[in-house]
Amino acid sequence: MAETMVPAGAPHGAAHGPTPDGGTRRDFLVLTTGAFAAVGVGAVVWPFISSMNPARDVLALASTEVDLTPIAVGQAVTVVWRGKPVFVRHRTAEEIQVARATPLSELKDPQPDQARVQKDQWLVVLGVCTHLGCVPLGQKPTDAKGNYNGWFCPCHGSHYDTSGRIRQGPAPLNLAVPAYSFMSDTQIRIG
Ligand code: FES
Repeated sequence: MAETMVPAGAPHGAAHGPTPDGGTRRDFLVLTTGAFAAVGVGAVVWPFISSMNPARDVLALASTEVDLTPIAVGQAVTVVWRGKPVFVRHRTAEEIQVARATPLSELKDPQPDQARVQKDQWLVVLGVCTHLGCVPLGQKPTDAKGNYNGWFCPCHGSHYDTSGRIRQGPAPLNLAVPAYSFMSDTQIRIG
């Protein structure tokens, strides 16, 4: 295709001759051909690359949306985000009040409850014990919730409170709060 760009009637040698910018016409033609080739290859490769993109469900794991509507006060759900469990708890007024009344001086990893939530009633934390990574109990109504009515990690006995803060046992840190945002009053997007 590029060869057709040689001016009609130009002597064959012109294709190799010097150009005003010091290069040769052959260079120009080669580069032009290369550019066309790149476009051509791009056009062919694109559908292939596209088909290699992560599937929709894999992409969805990068951010997980949670409908809060069905979670009644006092209930919790576990959702999977990037392969990890995330606990979403709809806290009762009493759970919020107890979390807020706790002096920071009593905490191993001092953090006010207000700094761990965006809306008082919704606590969103990674369900991964900060000791050695077990998934603590406390999500189901029948689960042990530990001495502070939050979560209990049976692996080595760590107790978390209603703000997901470590209160007793070997875990060094509070349950982590993942990045999330409220898309509406009843929907959050984690990640
Ligand atoms: S992993 Fe939870 S207490 Fe050890």
